[in-house]
Amino acid sequence: MTEFGVAVPSLETAGGKPATTTGKPLSVVALRKTYGDVVAVDEASMEIAAGEFVTFLGASGSGKTTTLMMIAGFCEPDSGTITVGGRDVTRLAPQKRGLGFVFQQYLLFPHMTVSENIAFPLTLRGVPKGEIRRRVGETLEIAGLSGFGSRRPRELSGGQQQRVALCRALVYRPPVILMDEPLGALDKKLRDQLQIEIKAIQQELGLTVIYVTHDQEEALVMSDRIAVMRNGRIEQFDTPRELFERPRTPFVADFLGAANFLPGHVEQHTGEHTLVRLDRTGGLLKARRHDLATGAAVEVAVQPGRLRAGAPGDGFCAGTVENATYVGSAVRAAVRVDGADAPLLRLEVPAGRAPVAGELVGITVDPDDVNLFPAGQGG
Ligand SMILES: Nc1ncnc2c1ncn2[C@@H]1O[C@H](COP(=O)(O)OP(=O)(O)OP(=O)(O)O)[C@@H](O)[C@H]1O
Ligand SMILES: [Mg+2]
Repeated sequence: MTEFGVAVPSLETAGGKPATTTGKPLSVVALRKTYGDVVAVDEASMEIAAGEFVTFLGASGSGKTTTLMMIAGFCEPDSGTITVGGRDVTRLAPQKRGLGFVFQQYLLFPHMTVSENIAFPLTLRGVPKGEIRRRVGETLEIAGLSGFGSRRPRELSGGQQQRVALCRALVYRPPVILMDEPLGALDKKLRDQLQIEIKAIQQELGLTVIYVTHDQEEALVMSDRIAVMRNGRIEQFDTPRELFERPRTPFVADFLGAANFLPGHVEQHTGEHTLVRLDRTGGLLKARRHDLATGAAVEVAVQPGRLRAGAPGDGFCAGTVENATYVGSAVRAAVRVDGADAPLLRLEVPAGRAPVAGELVGITVDPDDVNLFPAGQGG
């Protein structure tokens, strides 16, 4: 069983009253970190508002932990600036930054009870006993752990231990809490449950959270904004909806939605739309207005959930349903488009309107759901 814990927190916020969460809790400007030839983080910049839940999302090695560690103060940047509450903390020791941490790799103290573990940051700062008792009790209640205070960590489930680690970060009310894959070691069901619990606590207390995950669903469920990271760079920093509906690069479109990509050329601009002739099928697709020049080679990206299967004559191409799989409220289907070098389109449609394998269908899409990128930008 994996145990979780928090690093020793700041002495600055040890007054008993919650640290202020107004103003600009955190900003990062042009943060950079290299290890020899490896650029782990490349000019990362962002401003995080009070009460925001921000997630760093990216594949393994994309620089999520390194960025978080620099914010925490466990890793020194080559260049760049970090400010917390308007104060430059770039060269400050971790415990002087006023941040809370919940990292998977830190252990709860096995010889201490749950209450003692949670009280630890306060004990360390000499907060009076009565005050400690009150705040530990309060925090246990928030995390749904009332009645568990006198147990030892080994007498708890993984999910409960994780909640204790969260309590230990919450107990001194830091203005910003950093979490690096805190649910990574838990099974899917527990993850889902704790995602909702952490989000509820964050909202109830108005916490500012920076969360790291490589799980896009987790990021979409929990975040106000997501920084999609790739090769040490922040590819896009936006709300889940913006990332999903207005991806700025093919990479983001693919990473968040497993988009369908189709090569084409801009044929014409109408007042409202950009018309794209698809290279492989010859079909004409309406996209939302875009500033790409007529004749430009483009990559069309459409999320599977935005394609619809209609009558064979409808839409921008026709094809045959190769398989259709029921996945709860929706059906995932693959459609083999007619023509030479025919692409396979992935669709996800409401169960009530789903086509069946072998069916001939026409594929339609709302022009607003079509994203265009200049060709050659990479996926
Ligand atoms: N101490 C180190 N020495 C050398 N290279 C490092 C060190 N720490 C990280 N790196 C490199 O920096 C890059 C970013 O690593 P980082 O740990 O930030 O990735 P990550 O996004 O957190 O990945 P994961 O999802 O696997 O945790 C990787 O290429 C990694 O190999
Ligand atoms: Mg990591």
